[in-house]
Amino acid sequence: MADRALDGASIVVTGATGGIGRQIARQFADLGARLTLTARNQGALEAIGIDATVVVADLRDSHAGTAIVNAALTANGRLDGLVNAAGIVAFGSLIETDDVVIEELFLTNVLGPLWLIRAALPALTESHGFIANISAVVAEQPLPGMVAYAASKAALTAADRALTRELRKAGVTVTDARPPHTETGLADRPIAGVAPRLRPGLEPSAVARRIVAAIQAGEREVPADAFGA
Ligand SMILES: NC(=O)c1ccc[n+]([C@@H]2O[C@H](COP(=O)([O-])OP(=O)(O)OC[C@H]3O[C@@H](n4cnc5c(N)ncnc54)[C@H](OP(=O)(O)O)[C@@H]3O)[C@@H](O)[C@H]2O)c1
Repeated sequence: MADRALDGASIVVTGATGGIGRQIARQFADLGARLTLTARNQGALEAIGIDATVVVADLRDSHAGTAIVNAALTANGRLDGLVNAAGIVAFGSLIETDDVVIEELFLTNVLGPLWLIRAALPALTESHGFIANISAVVAEQPLPGMVAYAASKAALTAADRALTRELRKAGVTVTDARPPHTETGLADRPIAGVAPRLRPGLEPSAVARRIVAAIQAGEREVPADAFGA
């Protein structure tokens, strides 16, 4: 199968101000994509420095998906792809983890992406487009002290695998990417708890390059060991 062409493609990137999302957005821009970039902080979105439509949205809001998709359709008349690179982390044993932390993890890492995908599906079906979700290594190798985070990422990976099959006839490709620890600073800004001592992580630009390559090649899974850690 020929690689998916991204020149001129209309693509939404969530978490576009983050360490991985910003690199993915830059690489898409270099390939000629027309981007709609979203996160919660307007100043940070404008500071990315890419010519793009920006949408301030909170994925925990079930209406955010419609606003994001409408902005992309208004700007570019179509939608060819959706990359979900938004996410949060928390650490600590389950017994120490507050209700609100578990809720926040699942709202941001699971429910928000699913609401957004649902809103994007009519346009992605029309374009035979793609969805790429950034899950994490902990979906395959869950660790103590990260029960709720690992469960949220495993839920996203399960959704991706079910969507892959559900959307096959519609011609929409789904990629589930599960990067290992990456040096974005995410582990230093958990919503709860303190990160364990971690070995040095991957470069965000290298992780982004692997994910963009997977999207171009139509790969359905990018497991942790495919990132060359
Ligand atoms: N870094 C790692 O080691 C690693 C490893 C494996 C997987 N991942 C996953 O990769 C993804 C990106 O991680 P990262 O390291 O790039 O993190 P990051 O640098 O902290 O970026 C996270 C992004 O998500 C956005 N975001 C957070 N909560 C949001 C919400 N409620 N609504 C909309 N946007 C929201 C943030 O912007 P605002 O806060 O301004 O909204 C930011 O743009 C996450 O899903 C993470 O779990 C990371």
